[in-house]
Amino acid sequence: MLVTSETVSRLRAAGCVFAEDEAAVLTEAAGDAATLDAMVERRVAGEPLEQVVGYADFCGLRVRLRPGVFVPRMRSELLVRLALRSAKQQSVVVDLCCGSGALGMAVHHTLPDITLHAADLDPVAVACARENLRAGVHQGDLYDALPAHLRGRIDVLIANVPYVATRHIAFLPAEARDHEPHTALDGGDDGLAIFRAVAERAREWLSPGGVLLSEITEAQSAAAIAIADGNGLTATVASDDDLDAYAIIARPVPAR
Ligand SMILES: C[S@@+](CC[C@H](N)C(=O)[O-])C[C@H]1O[C@@H](n2cnc3c(N)ncnc32)[C@H](O)[C@@H]1O
Repeated sequence: MLVTSETVSRLRAAGCVFAEDEAAVLTEAAGDAATLDAMVERRVAGEPLEQVVGYADFCGLRVRLRPGVFVPRMRSELLVRLALRSAKQQSVVVDLCCGSGALGMAVHHTLPDITLHAADLDPVAVACARENLRAGVHQGDLYDALPAHLRGRIDVLIANVPYVATRHIAFLPAEARDHEPHTALDGGDDGLAIFRAVAERAREWLSPGGVLLSEITEAQSAAAIAIADGNGLTATVASDDDLDAYAIIARPVPAR
């Protein structure tokens, strides 16, 4: 099917900034006129493009997505890069709070011999991650979801936890606010409630030389380092200006 000016106009009228590009993506994904009409309708109503077409492009990979699952953000490429810096073939890598599983999928793509596990609280995200990962995908609250044999053995723990402060949720773009579950966004009063819970038990689950990687905001840096410090971890913050991304890198302080 060819992209029509009507499709472009409907998207533009709804405020889509990249109406031509989106029209091309929707037309290709739809395949027939009726499906395209339904997809444009959903997009015009504000649903993220990635949820409408059922995929997101992340780190050069096509990640399957479904309605109600967090859309992987380009800035999270920083976490993938940091994970690849620490992981080796045979490493045990866990993608905690995995959503679609995009981050674990990207690490696994570069290092196919890692042992990868992923987990999320949300059954819809878990079902989506199972489509993207051949790894074990577990459902449950943070570490409670993981097999017990991973305790003390995780070399790279990627935890892209929700980190938006509750009072800031109202100011997110409508696409996120209305179409991504608040459990995927809401990090409590200071945005660090879930990171705090992850840090509290990180020493128990990481291997002695392991690392915890978590996305944060610049403003959260000092508080996140203090949380890590209070839980027997030594931390630094990495950033990438192009991606507008910040991540905390935390390692267990060696026992004396
Ligand atoms: C910001 S999204 C990140 C998703 C994915 N890692 C990504 O970057 O695309 C946070 C994810 O954490 C999950 N989550 C929230 N609270 C959780 C908890 N207590 N235990 C496990 N997963 C949780 C949400 O369901 C959501 O999928």
